[in-house]
Amino acid sequence: MRLPLPEKASQPTVEFDAEEIEAILQGPALDLKPWPVCQVKLKDGRTLLIREAKLEEAPMMLDYLKKFLDVDHDFYDIVGARVYSEVLGWYRKRLKDPYTLVGLIDGLWAGFANGRLMNEDINISLHTMALIRGGRIGAVMYYAKAYYGFEILGNKEWWATYESYNGWARWGVGMAQPSYPWPDVQHELGGARVYYVTKKYWDQMVKKYVQQMTGSELDFNVPDEVIKANEVMRVPDEVLV
Ligand SMILES: CC(C)(COP(=O)(O)OP(=O)(O)OC[C@H]1O[C@@H](n2cnc3c(N)ncnc32)[C@H](O)[C@@H]1OP(=O)(O)O)[C@@H](O)C(=O)NCCC(=O)NCCS
Repeated sequence: MRLPLPEKASQPTVEFDAEEIEAILQGPALDLKPWPVCQVKLKDGRTLLIREAKLEEAPMMLDYLKKFLDVDHDFYDIVGARVYSEVLGWYRKRLKDPYTLVGLIDGLWAGFANGRLMNEDINISLHTMALIRGGRIGAVMYYAKAYYGFEILGNKEWWATYESYNGWARWGVGMAQPSYPWPDVQHELGGARVYYVTKKYWDQMVKKYVQQMTGSELDFNVPDEVIKANEVMRVPDEVLV
């Protein structure tokens, strides 16, 4: 848009350095405590290591996620497309205060969970994916990110929504989550219903979830050999879901 100047400008063209624009587009980040690496014994005996994804792993993750755009069962296509944009948003710094967790079995990428902080109190759950089925890997990944919010970041509320029947059954029903009135309150994922967990409800009920799902707890004393086996992340050759 243009308007005539109401005053002479000694420099009629003002230039910006892209770094100055970047500071406005990104905004200041919250100082999030890191996720401490943990392991979980799955119900079939395998060990799932859960750690933060490294930024340099994002291109490999994006390449693999592209394959899910063609998976037209269990809502893997829409979740894959949205996760693709979220991983890219994290990589290109276009997501406010994101966290990105990966679940690995001997280095193989088996699970994904991410979210972002709306503010210091409200944690927005974005997506969870089981990249290998049958091990309750998705259930564990979702629990881990809620644990991160409540136990490590000190959040007061958890806001989630569900695109798939499996997701709704796993956590909407599985964690007996209440929801806010809809459409008055909408989740940023497509304006769907917001299901929520408060810190009080987390302490009362939800902390028992992973024990009930897997028979074990998140274990933050990860032996060196498990850390080593998962240091280098690999993506499966094919889609395994
Ligand atoms: C939702 C999701 C993360 C849950 O993952 P999960 O907890 O590991 O569980 P799965 O969906 O793989 O399996 C659900 C149940 O069906 C069974 N199952 C479904 N498909 C299966 C398959 N191909 N092979 C073996 N078991 C299968 C599982 O054994 C499990 O049974 P259980 O309850 O007795 O453990 C996963 O279904 C997923 O990634 N879906 C696509 C993305 C998505 O919907 N994300 C959530 C958005 S709301």
